[in-house]
Formats: sequence, structure tokens, C-alpha cells
Amino acid sequence: MLRIIRFSSLFLLVLVAGIWAYAWVSKSPHENLAEAFANRLAGVFGQEMAVPSAAGGGMQLPAGMSLGGPFELINQAGQPVTERDFAGRWLLVYFGFTYCPDVCPTELGIIASALDAMGPAGELVTPILITIDPQRDTPDQLADYVSRFHPRMQGLTGTAEQVAAVARRYRVYFARVQRPDMTDYLMDHSSFIYLVGPDAKVRALFRKETSPEVIAAATQAQMRAPRNPAL
Ligand code: NI
Repeated sequence: MLRIIRFSSLFLLVLVAGIWAYAWVSKSPHENLAEAFANRLAGVFGQEMAVPSAAGGGMQLPAGMSLGGPFELINQAGQPVTERDFAGRWLLVYFGFTYCPDVCPTELGIIASALDAMGPAGELVTPILITIDPQRDTPDQLADYVSRFHPRMQGLTGTAEQVAAVARRYRVYFARVQRPDMTDYLMDHSSFIYLVGPDAKVRALFRKETSPEVIAAATQAQMRAPRNPAL
């Protein structure tokens, strides 16, 4: 019996190390290593493991982990905003940048489709893009960009310090990447859609390429769920 346990733990260890190595070689420029690992792990053990569906889909936060909270940013009209300006509202938040060639437009399109899929309930949810490239994403640039995805989508920017602070609160990874063959730089960044409750805290997050239907269902389930005041 002991041998079986030893053998199985060795097997598990080798398997996890293998997935880590695989994640490292196969990660896309938009994924950081931890995210790539979580995605590959979910691929091996089945979607249910990384995406528990207690509230109808989306990744639940590990116990004791709190994301979101206060921020100070600048809205697309050039006015300062904080989380208090959105108090009482549900938000679907994405961190990205307007020069992003592929992933950001896809994910912002998914947010817009999720709101449409929710019907009238979607009107209670504000879609937000927070840029991780404040150097190029001015309020005007953001206003023009977000309006292409959804008429109510808000684009938020800020100083480099303000953006770094809000990214820390959401544990968003981002880094500037300069390829020798390109004149413009790119931003490498983690890609999650965050469902934020009326108290500015993250209630659920959705991995890249989660379907709009899953996001819509999970958002509505969270909006209906009675809130434990201790959380
Ligand atoms: Ni992007």
C-alpha cells in the first residue's frame, strides 16, 4: 500500500512538473507563466478543476484572497475617478491596451456579447477597460476605442503610478515588450475578465476565451446571490 502511495505521489509530482515545463514552452506572449500553468493544468485535469461552477461559471477566488478595492484613475472625459464613482454598480473589468493586436479586442467583444446575452439585466452592469499602457492610451484615445465595442463601455487611464496601483490590487501582470523588428512597442499582460460587485470587490474572474454565455450566466447568478456580510 505504501509503495502505491509513494508511486502515485511520484507520478503526480512528475506530471505537475511536466505540465509546468509544457506551460513554459507553450505559453503565448499574452500569458504569464502562472496563468499558462493554470490553463494547461485545467486542460489536463478537466475544466471543472480550475473553473468551479458554484455560481454558474467563472473562477472562484481562493479562500482569503481579495481582489479589487480602491483606485484612483482618469476617465475617458479626462476627469479623475475612484471606485466610489462606481459604487452600487456591477462591473465587468478588463485590463488591456488599445494598441493590442488581438487578445484585447477579442475579450472586449466577449464582454459586449455577454451584456447583450443578459438582456435587461445587462443594463445594470458597466463594462470597463482599464489601460495598462497609459503612455499611449490618453482619455481621447480610450473614448474612441471603447465606443467601438459597447456604447456604455468606459475607458480608464491614469498616471503610470495610478495604473500600477490598480493593477496590483487586481494582481494584473503587465510589461512593456520591444521587438527589434517593430518600431512600436507592445504590452505583454495577463488576460482575465473581472466581475466586480457593488462593493468594488472582485466576485469572480473569467479566463481568456470564456464564452459570453458563461460570463452572462455567472454574472446574473452573482447578482442574484444573497451576500454574506462577512465577505
Ligand atoms: Ni492585449
